[in-house]
Amino acid sequence: MKHLFQKGTNSAKPTFLMLHGTGGNETDLLAIAAHIDPEASVLSVRGNVSENGMSRFFKRLSEGVFDMEDLKMRTGELYEYIGQAAKEYDFDRNNVIAIGYSNGANIAANLLFTYSDSLKGAILHHPMVPNRDTDLPDLTNIPVFITAGTNDPICPAEESTDLEKLLAGAGAKVQLHWEDFGHQLTMPEVEAAKEWYDKL
Ligand code: MLT
Repeated sequence: MKHLFQKGTNSAKPTFLMLHGTGGNETDLLAIAAHIDPEASVLSVRGNVSENGMSRFFKRLSEGVFDMEDLKMRTGELYEYIGQAAKEYDFDRNNVIAIGYSNGANIAANLLFTYSDSLKGAILHHPMVPNRDTDLPDLTNIPVFITAGTNDPICPAEESTDLEKLLAGAGAKVQLHWEDFGHQLTMPEVEAAKEWYDKL
């Protein structure tokens, strides 16, 4: 997969898997990674799917309606890729924290919905429930921070509260944070994510 890797200055720190929103690329979220933890390594990946020239991590049939076959295939592809990158760049595969926004948060959520060992933790900015017809694996004690907007036209409130319930039901330690904004990724929610991360 197209990506950027930045080796951190402290090998005990996690590797952040950065996953952009629709139409973004692997440079979009680098400033957020540096803000959350400047000592962490960063693997920032570009989605392999193009929707009219906009990069995404999986296909959709329409806004908010996912191509479930493609989501499954692309989630597997990303999971494999993290393992390959860990070998190539010599980082700890078991210490990867995803930070995703929108479409990137959705594929990160689907990694959690599919595998018990995909992520050490996740920060999901404006995610949806990636799949409502699946049993989640055991996610005992995996920390997940979800941010949502009370006026987000793309993610109605139930998407955030249902995701929180489903992940918590699988054992994850979930915190849901609201801002009175829309779908955009805002500085207050990045600050809230940093506060959460600093307490891990
Ligand atoms: C998605 O397709 O993943 C969601 O609708 C979010 C988006 O990318 O707009």
